[in-house]
Amino acid sequence: ALLDEKIRAAEAAGVRLHLGTEIEVIGGHIGHYSARLTNGEEIEAGAVIMATGAVPYVPSVFDYGRDPRVITNLELEALLPDVAAKRVTFVGCVGSRNEERGCSRYCCASMIQQALALRRQGKYVRVLYRDIRTFSRHAEELYEEAMRAGVQFFRFDSDATPEQALAYQDGVVSFRDHLLGRAIALPTDLLVLVVGLLPGQETVSQQLKVAHSEDGFLLEKHPKLGPAEAGSPGIYLAGACQAPKDVRESVAQALAAAAKASVLLARDTITKEPITASIDSNECTGCGVCQATCPFSAIELLNGTRRHEVAHVIEAACEGCGTCAAACEFDAITMPYFTDAQILAQIDAALADLPEEKVLVFACNWCSYAGADQAGIEKIQYPPVARIIRSMCSGRVEEDFIARAFERGAGAVLVTGCHLGDCHYINANNRTVERFELWRQKFARQGIAPERLQLHWVSAAEGKQFAAKIREMAEVVGGRTRQLTGV
Ligand code: FES
Repeated sequence: ALLDEKIRAAEAAGVRLHLGTEIEVIGGHIGHYSARLTNGEEIEAGAVIMATGAVPYVPSVFDYGRDPRVITNLELEALLPDVAAKRVTFVGCVGSRNEERGCSRYCCASMIQQALALRRQGKYVRVLYRDIRTFSRHAEELYEEAMRAGVQFFRFDSDATPEQALAYQDGVVSFRDHLLGRAIALPTDLLVLVVGLLPGQETVSQQLKVAHSEDGFLLEKHPKLGPAEAGSPGIYLAGACQAPKDVRESVAQALAAAAKASVLLARDTITKEPITASIDSNECTGCGVCQATCPFSAIELLNGTRRHEVAHVIEAACEGCGTCAAACEFDAITMPYFTDAQILAQIDAALADLPEEKVLVFACNWCSYAGADQAGIEKIQYPPVARIIRSMCSGRVEEDFIARAFERGAGAVLVTGCHLGDCHYINANNRTVERFELWRQKFARQGIAPERLQLHWVSAAEGKQFAAKIREMAEVVGGRTRQLTGV
């Protein structure tokens, strides 16, 4: 009923809904997306809001699917208010808060609401819980109301998942009560498994290259500064596709995403930092490596004037990380303000004097450089061996820079960047990892000891960690200098 009402309101406001339809193919960039739907229609859009949701966990425990007395909370919702069973037992956290997933957030409040509704019908209602997390407004009151109404709450071992702590057989749930310290067996006519949320199964995010976090949900641009935006400009996130959420949180984020998209669409032009990549078509061989490397799908191959295709940067989509420039073997890509010549000149200047005593540090603009700054702000002492060269992302660092540093006699080279999963250019630092492995092997073959070339992640808040790493690297260069000089 709620959905029907929303659909009518949206249609009345002029929103075109394609119900019962899926997206077959989608692509494009900020201001210029296009999609083909399964009904054959083609649509164009300036922005995309991902509201693809999550899916409920399907239990494989407690005889679910075999014993008709065992159902999930979503199945119970469809039955309410007509529940014949007299004794109803709820089990919280099924499929949540285990090694793979965290709290599903919607379930405690939803479970208590259902328990209270059944209790008001005169049922014997028990709730078996690990912890009750009623963080949303009014949910705490609902919890107290449920207790007053006679819903019985039993806490099982809080360090264990329900699968580990409970057993179910033939209408009896048994467990050890954490507070009483006693084994308890509860006869039950209906066992309700309160299930968690899993990432949705959709291909749209893959086609749009929206990054996923480790738990499989879509990753926002920044947890505090960009909570409703994806890493790629023009794509916004709403609801449980980003992480398990309750309705209240989903609605709040959806409003934020809609506002962000409206701001974008209200403008005729977009303003960008002048750091987008440019490609020299005379040098480009059309190999396509940059296209495959770009986290933002900002490079396309076009028919060139010569016989092959040449790469072309879609400026609106390019965010300027420079990982394409580092990948280009033909030096065909220039990153304004972070050109090869500028970075090489910085390396030469940094190592002009006593290079063997220096640690050349490559730092990304967003995390590791800010982490180094943080060390300064906190006035943390470390040996003055570091010479820091900033680029937008660790993905900009290329082999030639490292080779130049060692040619100039650097004591050590430290490549730093945001922690994996935190790169400000979706997943560009995954490229850094891949490349670094190759560099390590290559430079080791050239006689560079592995401790002289290191990769280390530093967040913007990790001033202490940055300083500790430089101390460690200072030991490396100090030890080597002592060896070389025999002092
Ligand atoms: Fe820090 Fe990419 S922005 S590693």
